[in-house]
Amino acid sequence: MNLKQVLEKKGIKGAPKSFDQIGDIAIIEIPDKLKNYEKIIGQTILDLHKNIRTVLKKASPRTGRYRLRKLKLIAGVNKSITEHKESGCRFLLNVRTCYFSPREGTERIRVAEKVGKGEHIMVFFAGVGPFPIIISKKTKASDVVGIELNPACVRYFRRNIVLNKLTNVRVIQGDVQKVAKEFYGSCDRVLMPLPETGYKYLVYAIRCLKPEGVVHFYFISPENEINKWKKLVRREASKLKMKTKIKEIKKVLPYGPRIYKWCIDFIVS
Ligand SMILES: C[S@@+](CC[C@H](N)C(=O)[O-])C[C@H]1O[C@@H](n2cnc3c(N)ncnc32)[C@H](O)[C@@H]1O
Repeated sequence: MNLKQVLEKKGIKGAPKSFDQIGDIAIIEIPDKLKNYEKIIGQTILDLHKNIRTVLKKASPRTGRYRLRKLKLIAGVNKSITEHKESGCRFLLNVRTCYFSPREGTERIRVAEKVGKGEHIMVFFAGVGPFPIIISKKTKASDVVGIELNPACVRYFRRNIVLNKLTNVRVIQGDVQKVAKEFYGSCDRVLMPLPETGYKYLVYAIRCLKPEGVVHFYFISPENEINKWKKLVRREASKLKMKTKIKEIKKVLPYGPRIYKWCIDFIVS
């Protein structure tokens, strides 16, 4: 039985079926109308999943440049640091001070599978390092650089490089807008996992590429507005007198009612 069904048996209707699990921490969205039942919901998750020690409720939307949200303890141990395992890699992080989405594991593998031997990889907006670390572990990339603004993420990213025993990954703390210029013309592939505002940084990604390099550009859009984003990609490249060729448009995850997170993979020449 899933969470919703167990709670229905306890007389609580309208609870979510699922929640996110990062390491041994569960993070759940609880509708306002069930506010008075949140402790029971939290305890039910602990009873159903013996590998979860802490249940946190989403207490605000994600905000700010670091894309963080408020989280409220509703059951279990009061902690926010955990170790998450994904694709054979280990990620230590603080869920209150660092962005991390366990839902994006399939997308990280999709991109890693495109990486060729000897590639120089750049990951803008790198967080605690899931894309760089999985790419380093799973591919024969020559080296992987991550750029991240949030100092808390950068600290965990550095620890995660050591935890996963990697020698070809490095992280630079700073704003992509300022740091990317050190890498102009040197990358085979640039990843841009900041879907809400990443479009503002397309010119920096394109400038980092070698000829025939690839950009993985994430954005949020309804299905019927994809053409607008294709045009934007073309326009940003043409500002730099470059041409683009779209390789794939991937619907990554649902984001809201009829709105999705997408990725356009495109080559620049
Ligand atoms: C949506 S999160 C993605 C994190 C990571 N790639 C992942 O998949 O878990 C975006 C990250 O970009 C960082 N960020 C936002 N603006 C930035 C900028 N201008 N330069 C560098 N990092 C930035 C945020 O701090 C946040 O950690």
